[in-house]
Amino acid sequence: MTGAPLLANTREELRGALGERPRPVGLVPTMGALHAGHAALLARARQEVGPGAPVVASIFVNPLQFAPGEDLDRYPRTFDADLEICAEQGVDVVFAPAVEEVYPGGEPQVRIDPGPLARVLEGASRPTHFDGVLTVVAKLFGLVSPDLAVFGEKDYQQLTLIRRMVQDLCMCLEVVGAETVREPDGLALSSRNRYLDPDHRWRAAALSRTLFAARASAKYGAAVAIDAARHELRHARGVDLEYLELTAPDLGPAPETGPARLLIAARVGSTRLIDNVALELKEKS
Ligand code: PAJ
Repeated sequence: MTGAPLLANTREELRGALGERPRPVGLVPTMGALHAGHAALLARARQEVGPGAPVVASIFVNPLQFAPGEDLDRYPRTFDADLEICAEQGVDVVFAPAVEEVYPGGEPQVRIDPGPLARVLEGASRPTHFDGVLTVVAKLFGLVSPDLAVFGEKDYQQLTLIRRMVQDLCMCLEVVGAETVREPDGLALSSRNRYLDPDHRWRAAALSRTLFAARASAKYGAAVAIDAARHELRHARGVDLEYLELTAPDLGPAPETGPARLLIAARVGSTRLIDNVALELKEKS
């Protein structure tokens, strides 16, 4: 389908817009400030559902996942440009509700408890974050009833927890993970990159350089990979590391060999950035 997407601001309008449309329905949840990473998710949703079925993008800056003092108020809002990106990607319906539409009675009493996986990595410094993410994602699944939903590997812990929620709560949809889209120097695209001034933008590339250095050395084993990452970080000025952690692909304890995930969080100036890569660990021969 082509042309401008239908805009739905209310549940009622969403129901009307989805109406008698064919299945499967693909959903891409976002908080707006869309960039090429989001566009790739929309393209993936289209590829998954096929040319004749609807793709829904949601644009909602979810207050429940921001702690007091985080960037809820200054989170970038670029609605007109977002609609253009949705139109370019052949999105059929854009669901852009107000806060009162999603949380009519204020904060919901019943929430999704994300469990122990939400207390490590991002959860260590943002303890209420994934409760807010999973609760809104569950609500969006309830509102849109998608057959599949696409999320980015960029937010790997989020993707892992959403997969886990769908599995543990028997939600009837497929979760598709899409690869991280990067700038030419490796920096993962993020709505928050807009906060970086030119100097910090340049320094921010150290996160992906660190991950790629580890990935390149992973064939020599975990210790060498982590050493390579730390070596890269020692040369990075103005990058305040929060964590660099090697885990299993499901975020469990890191294996000795085989597939693993390396995740990083750091502050560059006042901007907190996250990134991660897959790596294949081999023992030193
Ligand atoms: P947001 O940060 O807008 O991201 C929406 C989706 O885009 C997420 O699945 C995220 O992983 C993906 N994404 C972001 N940057 C990407 C990149 N460089 N390459 C590929 N995908 C990328 O994540 C959220 O919003 C919210 O937590 C949400 C799931 C919408 C719940 O409020």
